[in-house]
Amino acid sequence: MSSDGGGTASILALMIAETRLRQMFEEWCDPADCRAGIELCPGGDPIVRWAHLRQLGLCDELERIADSLPAAVDKIRCLAVANTLVPLLRDIHRYEEQAVFPVFQSMEGCAELRAATIQRLCAEHLEDECFADEVTEALLAIGHGHPVGNAEAIGFMLRGLFETMRRHVAFEREHVMPLLDPQRCKRLS
Ligand SMILES: [Fe+2]
Repeated sequence: MSSDGGGTASILALMIAETRLRQMFEEWCDPADCRAGIELCPGGDPIVRWAHLRQLGLCDELERIADSLPAAVDKIRCLAVANTLVPLLRDIHRYEEQAVFPVFQSMEGCAELRAATIQRLCAEHLEDECFADEVTEALLAIGHGHPVGNAEAIGFMLRGLFETMRRHVAFEREHVMPLLDPQRCKRLS
């Protein structure tokens, strides 16, 4: 591709990512109607709170699929998760890396520790995206009616992904997002 073509492609990719983020925000519920959500999702950024809930929802879907292998697997569910998993993770990760982590890094004190935390979280994003690519391939095959070859191995792969995603989200919710919540900071000061 020419350099102009590459530039156009990256502008298009950015526009698509921004549109997805706007959709995320529009779909996210009003905090006034979501008191239980506030309890579950500390943090001042509604997009991240929404994103964490979406990721945990995907983890539940992956767990249902893993539990149903091989005989009771729902092919439509496999296709739905396969179509959502990678684009959703990529959008959420880019948003956290571009909008959330810089604010976390700029807070007072412990700059080196914060930098190390961000580095680890970014590495986990990359690992999860690679892992999600493999899971997507397996789910597409099942969804399109290919026989489930080694159900135990596929189940193990799905569990590996949703367990690491849950741990990652739990860490961000407990140790990153509360610090970025102005209401909580006010209560603690
Ligand atoms: Fe993250």
